[in-house]
Order: sequence, then structure tokens, then C-alpha cells
Amino acid sequence: MSTHKPLVIGNWKLNPGTAAEAKALCIAIRKKLKKDAPVTVVVAPPFPYIADLTRLSPTGRIMVAAQDVFSEDSGAFTGEVSAGMLASLGVTQVIIGHSERRAMGETDAQVAAKVAAALRRKLTPVVCVGETVRDGSGSHFGVVEAQVRALAAGLTARALAAIVIAYEPIWAIGTGKNATPEDVEEMHLFIRTLLTKLYDRATGKRVRIIYGGSVKPENAAALHGAGMDGFLVGGASLSAESFNKIILAVLPA
Ligand code: 13P
Repeated sequence: MSTHKPLVIGNWKLNPGTAAEAKALCIAIRKKLKKDAPVTVVVAPPFPYIADLTRLSPTGRIMVAAQDVFSEDSGAFTGEVSAGMLASLGVTQVIIGHSERRAMGETDAQVAAKVAAALRRKLTPVVCVGETVRDGSGSHFGVVEAQVRALAAGLTARALAAIVIAYEPIWAIGTGKNATPEDVEEMHLFIRTLLTKLYDRATGKRVRIIYGGSVKPENAAALHGAGMDGFLVGGASLSAESFNKIILAVLPA
């Protein structure tokens, strides 16, 4: 069982279509959320909605994350958004290295630079790792190991302990095919053991590891029972009702 306070992040991706809908969704999620529930709830809307949503929850009952961040703090980088800008709006977490961004060409080196930028501004990086396919040969462990090693290469133990690792097998994203609780438990242990090897036992324990990939109200309790510290939810986070059911599934009985 996880010893961390559970963390549930809704990655809205390129949704919803208007600022009004984004506000309405955030309000609906907040309404269903019990005050003082022992869970950290985060929504990650598209950039243009961030300011509205941080204003909606000034006490941080629902925290707001960004879906990406640029590695530099300022300068001639048309279209980019810096960690300082996000922090100034009240953003607290940032998703980095999502597979949908890696598919657009983002490299491990860029992921590491973005993580450093986020940490400079005290934003919590939620770094995504995960294999494209599972073929029974065990190659998925090698893929995840390379991603975790690349992430760890530039980080002190203290910096690493502040990070959240999101294990998101790409084959499970948006497909309705979630990893089984056994798969998830195995990968969770694998990542923790690797971190213990690269750092030490205490650091390996402190990093939060969450799961993403077709998390739904129906599978959330079983997946959480596999020891994960929470979830990174895509499609099911676009409905306040299903997102809330997932939140309920991670609360202590
Ligand atoms: P789905 O929950 O829609 O599979 O998406 C997962 C994801 O990519 C969250 O970042």
C-alpha cells in the first residue's frame, strides 16, 4: 500500500473547447470534492485557461498544473511558456515528457532541461515515462529504465525527491486497455528499486509514482490497491462525475 497522500491529476489535454466550459468543469469537480479529503487533486488545463482556474481555487483545494513548460526563463522563444510565468499564475505542478509530446519529438535531454526549469521555480515536475508496446520479452523495463536514468542523471537526491513519476504505458493511453494491477505493481517496484540503486533507499521511497493510461471509475480501486501513489487521468477527467469517482477510489476506506 502507498504511504504517500494520494495524488490525482486530470490531464485535460486539448479540451474543453472554451474557457467557459473549462471553468464549469473545474467548478463541478470542486463541488463534488469533500472538504479536507486526504487527497491532492490537480487539474491540468490548456495554457489559456490556467489563470481563470487558479483564481477559482485560491486556497489550492484544487491545484492547477500545466501540461508542459519551456526550459528557458525568458528570451526569443516564440510560442513558449516559462516556469516563472506559470508560477506567477499560481500553478503548482507541471506535466513534463508526456508521451504525446515525446511523439512530437521531445527528447530525454529536453525533458531533463524542463525538469530543471520547473524545479528552479519550485513547480513540482510530473515526469511521464512508459513503453510503447508490451511484447512479453520484458523490453518495457529497459525502456522505462533508460527514461528514468536520463531523468536522474542531472538531479541530486533532494531534487529527485520533489518529483512525481507518472508511469504511463503508451499502449494504455486513450485505448481503454489499462495495465493490470499486477503489471502496475511490478513496474512500480522496478522504478523504486532502480531509484534506490541510483540514489539510496530513503530517496527511492520519497518519490511519488503514479499511474496513467485508461484509468476509469471501474478500474481505479484495483489499480490503486497495486501500491501506486495516485493517477494521471486523461479522458475520464473531463467528466466531473467520473473524475470524482476516481478520487473516491484512492481515499482510505
Ligand atoms: P487516458 O486516461 O485518456 O488513457 O489518458 C491518459 C493520459 O495520457 C494522461 O496523461
